[in-house]
Amino acid sequence: MLHVEHLTKIYRGGLRANDDLSLEVRPGEVLGLLGHNGAGKTTLLNQVAGLVRPTSGTLRLDGRDPVTDPAYARAVCSVQLQAQAPLAGVTPRQAIEILGRIRGGKRQRVRQRTGELLAALDIAEWADVPGERLSGGVRRLTAFCMAAVEPGRLVMLDEPTNDVDPVRRRLLWQQVRDLAADGCAVILVTHNVAEAERSVDRIVVLDHGRAVVTGTPAELRNRVTADLRLELTCTPGLPPPAPPAWVGTVTVTGRRMVLPVDTDQTERAVAWALGLRGAGTITEFALHPVSLEDVYVGLTAGTEKETGDAILAA
Ligand SMILES: Nc1ncnc2c1ncn2[C@@H]1O[C@H](COP(=O)(O)OP(=O)(O)O)[C@@H](O)[C@H]1O
Ligand SMILES: [Mg+2]
Repeated sequence: MLHVEHLTKIYRGGLRANDDLSLEVRPGEVLGLLGHNGAGKTTLLNQVAGLVRPTSGTLRLDGRDPVTDPAYARAVCSVQLQAQAPLAGVTPRQAIEILGRIRGGKRQRVRQRTGELLAALDIAEWADVPGERLSGGVRRLTAFCMAAVEPGRLVMLDEPTNDVDPVRRRLLWQQVRDLAADGCAVILVTHNVAEAERSVDRIVVLDHGRAVVTGTPAELRNRVTADLRLELTCTPGLPPPAPPAWVGTVTVTGRRMVLPVDTDQTERAVAWALGLRGAGTITEFALHPVSLEDVYVGLTAGTEKETGDAILAA
């Protein structure tokens, strides 16, 4: 559905917001675009939607070029912008139905789908409240419904769960999965790693405009050498404990110390941590399986510090 090859966008002033990006998204697939603020995520979406012109490289939407064919790009893409949708003077129901009609949906079908989306995201109680009286979360969910009511074949969602409460976030992830199940290609932009881990098929991590890694959440987790992480909270005022030889590269952030541990060292690690807690060197500890967040932190920190490369397998 979407093919991006060697895409580079340099803004006036010389900032390289996208740097030699290549990726693709297929129908029925949710691609998670993950990266820090300023990594270049929104810039990529704007180029796909035909709103920003690439500096070099190629973009193909269904084989067509959004640069020379912006009307086609707009017809085939549904976008939820990162900026909040202006809803002054309209209710969620009106805004969603208007979008559905603009995108060519039949009146009856749009009305029904609007009701279903409002119910599925549990915001029906605000369906007829004017936009200026709505919370940020309800406005964000309304914007999602506007993109999803009569979706194009490529749906791009730019940080759709900002300001949304945890329960409704999950309802939204389900709607994102349903869009893919209906055959849409979906790009979900987020800086929330847990969100990406639970709701996407493949992930591209952007760092300073470059794609530093692409893979399924499981493939990304498999890139780390150890299966477990031992997390210590050091006692304030005391030096952190010296790590034993049988752990991997240690990361220290304030009072938090994280050590990669192999599964066969589990008992040893727990015994060591219990000893430290008994001696008062640490206040608490936790042992947990490697999460995508560990991988992500390793990857993106790795471009500036040596920790990332050390944590990742060659
Ligand atoms: N219109 C613009 N002109 C100049 N620089 C821009 C413009 N839009 C974004 N940038 C810069 O490009 C970089 C990438 O921005 P953006 O694509 O919005 O990142 P993200 O969505 O990942 O946070 C940032 O450094 C941002 O300041
Ligand atoms: Mg952005």
